[in-house]
Amino acid sequence: MHPRTATVSGVQPTGDLHLGNYAGAIRPLARLAADDDRDVYVFVADLHALNTHPEPAVLAQRTRRLAAALLACGLERPNVHLYRQSRVPAVARLAQLLGNVTAKGLLNRAHAYKAAIAANAAAGRDPDHGVNLGLYGYPLLMAADILALDADDVPVGADQAQHLEIAVDLAQQFARTYGPGALREPRARIPQDVAALPGVDGRKMSKSYDNTIPLMVGADVAAGRIRRIVTDSATPEEPKDPDTCTLVALLRAFAAPSVVAGVEVRYRAGGIGYGEVKALLAEVVEGAVAPLRERHDALLADPDALEDRLRAGEAAASQRADAVLARVMAAMGL
Ligand code: TRP
Repeated sequence: MHPRTATVSGVQPTGDLHLGNYAGAIRPLARLAADDDRDVYVFVADLHALNTHPEPAVLAQRTRRLAAALLACGLERPNVHLYRQSRVPAVARLAQLLGNVTAKGLLNRAHAYKAAIAANAAAGRDPDHGVNLGLYGYPLLMAADILALDADDVPVGADQAQHLEIAVDLAQQFARTYGPGALREPRARIPQDVAALPGVDGRKMSKSYDNTIPLMVGADVAAGRIRRIVTDSATPEEPKDPDTCTLVALLRAFAAPSVVAGVEVRYRAGGIGYGEVKALLAEVVEGAVAPLRERHDALLADPDALEDRLRAGEAAASQRADAVLARVMAAMGL
């Protein structure tokens, strides 16, 4: 018997998911979860969301919607444990304990904090203007998310690489201070082959650029956004380069390879208009997303059942995290 691999990942409830989140993070996670020998702990990072003070009712709603979306995207499986970070108390307790082996200087170097103080400096404000401990300590809480679950690997986007390094650092610092054995050192699993999806303006699809195509909101909304994708002004007859076209990049993420290949040939030869490609893209996206949206809507329509599922995930995650916390407390003399 080989030991089961434990995979841990979290998603912040910052708003409705978009195609970029799905293709870049959730679908790859669902593909890992398709391996029954892997235990997947996936959580809604509701504690992480607090540093921007979302409206409480909005946060609660986003948390439910994200939970339903994650399940609907292929994570509704016996080997997947879905939980709310805030409902697994050992995570926050571990963060508190790990704070004592966390050099302040390490957190000073974290990207998000550095970006905040750089923006303040540029605006002539106090460097720490508007920076709360939630933002500053974000990497510490994220390390606790990972270490509390005894993660073997953590699938994240490239933008999270530094956070993973900090988690490894803190596990090593804990071992140097209190001896080895309490915390497992995680591995980052950063997909090299998943290029970031472009948004409707051609830049990386991101909520902060307001260029997203929503995942669960509805076929008409997605199709409307797809019609607004910016292209160049080439006529249908002109040959075009498929490798620089946002429409083709999105098709590659959702269409069958044979469909993509056919479009590429017609781009190079000339004789295909962007209107036709947009209609095709809308159809392909709808084909891929409709079953997910249907499941998402059904899950949201039964809040009690969704709550029960989350509680089951929270019980499984807590059982694992409580054992880690007990080892850490014993090592520290508590
Ligand atoms: N910081 C991650 C992001 O913004 C979300 C996250 C929080 C996370 N805790 C985590 C991801 C632990 C993986 C493991 O995408």
